[in-house]
Parts: sequence; C-alpha cells; structure tokens
Amino acid sequence: MDVDDFWSGVGVDLHLEPDGAAGRRAGLEKALRDAVRDGRLAPGTRLPATRRLAGELGISRGTAKAAYDQLVAEGYLTARQGSGTQVAALPSVDTGRPGAAARARAPRFDLRPGSPDVGAFPAAAWLRALRRAIATAPSLAYDYGDPRGRIELRTALSGYLGRARGVIAPPERIVITSGYVQGLALLTRVLDGAAVAMEDPGLPFHREVVRHNGGSVVPVRVDERGVRAGELGEERAVVVTAAHQYPTGVTLQPERRRALTDWARTGGALIVEDDYDGEFRYDRQPVGALQGMAPGQVAYLGTASKTLGPALRLGWMVLPPHLVDAVAEAKLHSDHHTETIGQLALAELIDSHAYDRHVRACRLRYRRRRDQLLDRLGSRRRLRGIAAGLHALVDVADEEEVLARAEAEGLALGRLGDHWHTPGEGRPQGLVVGYGTPRERVYPEALEVLAKVLDGA
Ligand SMILES: Cc1ncc(COP(=O)(O)O)c(C=O)c1O
Repeated sequence: MDVDDFWSGVGVDLHLEPDGAAGRRAGLEKALRDAVRDGRLAPGTRLPATRRLAGELGISRGTAKAAYDQLVAEGYLTARQGSGTQVAALPSVDTGRPGAAARARAPRFDLRPGSPDVGAFPAAAWLRALRRAIATAPSLAYDYGDPRGRIELRTALSGYLGRARGVIAPPERIVITSGYVQGLALLTRVLDGAAVAMEDPGLPFHREVVRHNGGSVVPVRVDERGVRAGELGEERAVVVTAAHQYPTGVTLQPERRRALTDWARTGGALIVEDDYDGEFRYDRQPVGALQGMAPGQVAYLGTASKTLGPALRLGWMVLPPHLVDAVAEAKLHSDHHTETIGQLALAELIDSHAYDRHVRACRLRYRRRRDQLLDRLGSRRRLRGIAAGLHALVDVADEEEVLARAEAEGLALGRLGDHWHTPGEGRPQGLVVGYGTPRERVYPEALEVLAKVLDGA
C-alpha cells in the first residue's frame, strides 16, 4: 500500500504495514486503532473520506468503509452526517501493556535521539538470513550453548570489526550480548562495585545501569576534544563514546586517546569503548576504534541497534584476555547466552555481505538527512557533532522555552540538560536532535517544524 499521501493528509505516521498478513482491512483497522490508542491520532481529528482513503491506499472503497465502520462500532471513531468520520474522545486509554504510557504521548514528529529509522530495517535480507540460518543449523543449535555466543557469529564479527572498525577481535575474545546495555551491566558486575568514570554529559540511562549493577558513577568532563582524560583518577574503569561522543558529538582527539590509554595502562584500569554509531561517519574515513591502539586495556562494545534496529537486542563485546572468563561467567548467570537463531541470522547477514550493503545504504541515507538538516538550519544555528552518527547538538539560549514551543507543534527533541550528572545553573544549553529516527517521508516536514520552532515563529 502506498500510504504517503495518507500521512500528509492526516499528518501522522500510521505505521501501516504493506499488505499485512492479516489482510488489508484488518491491517488498516489495526493501524488506526493503534494510532488512536497511542495518541498519534488525537480526539477530534477528521479522517479522510473513504473514497480518498481508498484511492491513496490502493484499496477498495468498501474495504476502507468496512474498517471505519468497525472502529466506529468499537468506539474509537465517530461518524456523523455532515461532519464525516472523526477520532472519538476516549476517556484514557490504558492498554495495560508495558510502554503504553510512553506511547500515549507519542509526538507527531519525533526528533529525539536514540533510534535509527526502523522503517529502513532490511526485512527481506533478514528473512533470507533467518531462513538460511534455520535451514543449515545443526540440531544442537537448539540446545544450550557457549555463554560467549555462537562461534559462527563471533567469527563473522571478528572479520567485520577488523575491516570496518580496526578492532583486533579474535573470536575467542568476543562475547555476544543482548545489546550494548547488557555488556555494560556485565562489565560493571565483574568490576564488583568499583568506581566507574562516565562522560559528563552522557546518557543518564547508562549511569543508572551501572548503579543498578552495583557500580558507583564518577563524572568526567567532556570538552571540544573529547573526554578530559587528564582528570581521571583512581577509578577502575571509564566508559567513553570515542568515535562520536554522546550527546555532544565530538570525536576523541589523538592526544586524548593516548592520554586515556596511558592512564589505563599505568593504573591497570579498563576503558569501556561504546561504539554505538561508529559505522556512520560522513565526511572522511571512519575514525578507527580506540581498541585497536590498546587491545589489552579496552573492552570494545558494539551493537546492531543503530545499523539494524534496537528490537533485535544484539550486541557484542571484544574483551581484553584477562576479562573473557569472568564476563562469560557473568553472562551465563545472567541468561545462559543470547538467543541463538538471531545470532546465526546475523552471522549469515555479515558473511553474505548483505550487512555491509545495508550499512552503506543507511550511511548514504543518514548523510543526506544530515545535509538537509545543515541546509535548513546551518547558516543560522551552531550545529555540533554533524560529522558522524545520527544526532547533532544545536546550541540554544533557553532549552525550556524552545522545548515548550516544540511540544506545542507536536515535535519531540532531546534536551542537553537531561544529560548532565548534576544539573545546575549556568550549564550550556542545547537540543539533541536525532535525525535518524523519523520515517523517510516524515523527515522533511519534521525539519520544517524544527526550523519554525527554532526561529520562534
Ligand atoms: C550512547 C549509546 N550507547 C549505546 C546505545 C545502544 O544500546 P543498545 O545496544 O543496548 O540498544 C545507544 C542507543 O541508543 C546509545 O545512545
């Protein structure tokens, strides 16, 4: 189904799946029901007439009418002679599902950082990889396995990380995890209550993960050259986003890289390298991972969350030799190992080069989006961190004021202020703009709204 015009007609992304398995009418009903429930279609919104809807979606008018009738019968929509079909005023829809409250506030335009364009998930390639994985997996693959993960995936990643990120990654030092976040949790547990230095500003959720796992968090400041390695002290570990600092977007400079690895060598400390968006660099060659300089001091952590999608919960760690057994032990006691079939599918995707092709296509797409962002705002605004990744930092004088205007326009943005270890007066103010998140068709309009909000119009 071509839903582009419908998006522009109603002004929301309905997440309507093309020819969903349940059929067109059921698919349309579900998409509308979900959009009403989670607030993307606000009470009172007028829906297009069935003739127009049918034309735009390439379905029969009867199917469109049947879907509307069903939702009227269920109470999600109202139909009145003369005023067409509208979204009903529902008391408060609490589906009881996890995340329902968050979805209930779903914005019209989502420029918050954190997720890629999940609409770009390579479903056909993933399905082929899954099919092949299942067709060729030995029956033992369905039994408990190595807590470090499947050897097929560790071998595939060993080659991929070497050529794409300059990581020295023998398969026996790789542990497959449920995303980056599990790797961080496992390392914290292995460090057993130690002090962990974390970038300030940085992602609050990751600080919570360290604390939940018994670590104590120590802030270390970040400036325009990256994390201030000279300010590290007796901590047992430091977590860094070296390629593209989150959220400031700065790249860790060579002298800081040296200072950091010297600090780790001298004090026997660990550098945890969070390489969450290292594949996406736009203006020149990717900056290689820090791990390549000091494989004995760095635990390198990568993830499929930005390249494929966070839902897969697939991540990987490349560990210094002395940590492999302890982390594998922690992994075993956490969940035995990461789910096997997904691991085999990712190995297939990498080995067939479909992963590289997908990452290349995404890089072009996000680069184009980055360029559009620069075209729209760059001449009037200071944008930082635009050489890489899926987000940029926009300087503003007053976060609160701009965010209030954005909310009124249905636009969600990240706030620099949420990332400080200790919020306070006099901190630099900024917006964290995640340009990867919106669906492709919605992005230009999201940029227009952002420009309007920033101009104070
Ligand atoms: C700074 C940072 N690190 C890591 C990740 C990836 O986390 P995970 O692999 O657990 O999805 C993200 C995702 O948003 C992130 O923003």
